[in-house]
Amino acid sequence: MVLFAGMTLVAAQDFPSDFLGSDFHKDRRDILRTKMPGNSVAVFFANPVRNRANDTDYLYHQDPNFYYLTGYREPHAILLMFKDNQTDDNGDSFNEIAFVQPRKTEDPTDRDSETWTGRRLGPTGFEEQLGIRPSFDNYLFEEYSIDFSKFDKVLFYDFMNDVRDTENEGDLYDLISWFKKKAGYPSGNAMEVEPIAGNLDTQTLDYFMGEMRGVKTKEELALLRKAIDISCIAQVEVMKAIKPGMSEREIQGIHEFIYRKYQAEEEGYNSIVGAGHNGCILHYIDNYKPVVEGKEMILMDLGAEYHGYTADVTRTIPIDGKFSKEEKAIYDLVYQAQEAAIKACMPGIDYRIDLDAQIARRIVNEGLADLKIIKRPDSPNSYYPHGLSHQLGLDVHDLGGSKLRPGMVITIEPGIYIPDNSPCDKKWWGIAVRIEDDLLVTENGCELLSDIAPRKSEEIEALMAKPSPFDNIVLPELESSQN
Ligand code: GLY
Ligand code: MN
Ligand code: MN
Repeated sequence: MVLFAGMTLVAAQDFPSDFLGSDFHKDRRDILRTKMPGNSVAVFFANPVRNRANDTDYLYHQDPNFYYLTGYREPHAILLMFKDNQTDDNGDSFNEIAFVQPRKTEDPTDRDSETWTGRRLGPTGFEEQLGIRPSFDNYLFEEYSIDFSKFDKVLFYDFMNDVRDTENEGDLYDLISWFKKKAGYPSGNAMEVEPIAGNLDTQTLDYFMGEMRGVKTKEELALLRKAIDISCIAQVEVMKAIKPGMSEREIQGIHEFIYRKYQAEEEGYNSIVGAGHNGCILHYIDNYKPVVEGKEMILMDLGAEYHGYTADVTRTIPIDGKFSKEEKAIYDLVYQAQEAAIKACMPGIDYRIDLDAQIARRIVNEGLADLKIIKRPDSPNSYYPHGLSHQLGLDVHDLGGSKLRPGMVITIEPGIYIPDNSPCDKKWWGIAVRIEDDLLVTENGCELLSDIAPRKSEEIEALMAKPSPFDNIVLPELESSQN
């Protein structure tokens, strides 16, 4: 008993205490159940494990819907949620059931067990810690007797056919195969089966999940605020630390070191750190430039992910701390477009129409015409080739529509990109600016969540003149690179 209490204590200390609680996930399931049509079942699968090469996998990331509904962070699991109570063989009623990774097995050849890949909840932990009952070892799903044809609707996301089979009975590949067989899923390439047969519905669940995930609860907002604060502190520290001669990779590393310092587990998407004309590549993730030059800007689009929730913040700064005349003209134009869109952001509007088309894009095009980069504001051009906004949450491009409601979190991210050889004076070539901020839609406007990181060109220049703790970090030269 004493030993057990001690072990529990060690386990608690091994783990952050601010994850979403099981009540949050239960509430989400209850709300989804109210949306589900009569006599229906919703089926969710954990994300696949992604192989990097040979016997090395990428860090596991749970499917956001599965995480939202359960809090489970392990692979090889299936969750079934029923609209109406079901009765088991003992006459007990239940409205959800899960099949999850088994705990450590006695099989000495089992190289995927807890000894090799970490602690697992198992069905008992799943029931006790996440509150989803009944739960079983995943390999038992094969024998689980369920007649899917008795439901008016079987709701699930269609399959991407990108799951590897492993030697473990009950892995995700098996769970999907068994589900397809039990549910009468048509054979052949799923994405080509249109419309899908009988009571199988692969469309509606995404709509329900979007309605829910689009509006954040206070528990989700606490995590999102943390992810955004961490990302902004990293932008601020990089503004002070950056110097000509650094590499794109080193600058990426300072951001990501700060993320880890504040316990963010991951980046919500691959970090984009592009100096000079590399900034014109919208999702430039190579970050290979070995030496960034004083006479160029660097576009840094990064987001810390904290307990599943990701920020998405971009700052574009002059590497030597001072914007050139042309850089400042473009920068201030993007800022002006962003500021106008932020001021107009409120519930009831549509960000695609009201913020992007009617405000930001109009300001950018008028400004480009004033600077004689294009002939007239309505001249066709591709200097702002992406949308202004998207939802933010468990996914960087999160679920939920473009019509704003209180509780939504969105980005506002205008940009201007002038690649080399563009049809304008070459003094503009290679200039790329994106300013991206994260906003919470409130009852009568919006709250700028990413205001820790300055956006105005003068404020950025003032901050960049300040010393940085990274100034004092001197590491030895690599002897191996001198040969
Ligand atoms: N970082 C991806 C985006 O801004 O949408
Ligand atoms: Mn974005
Ligand atoms: Mn971004």
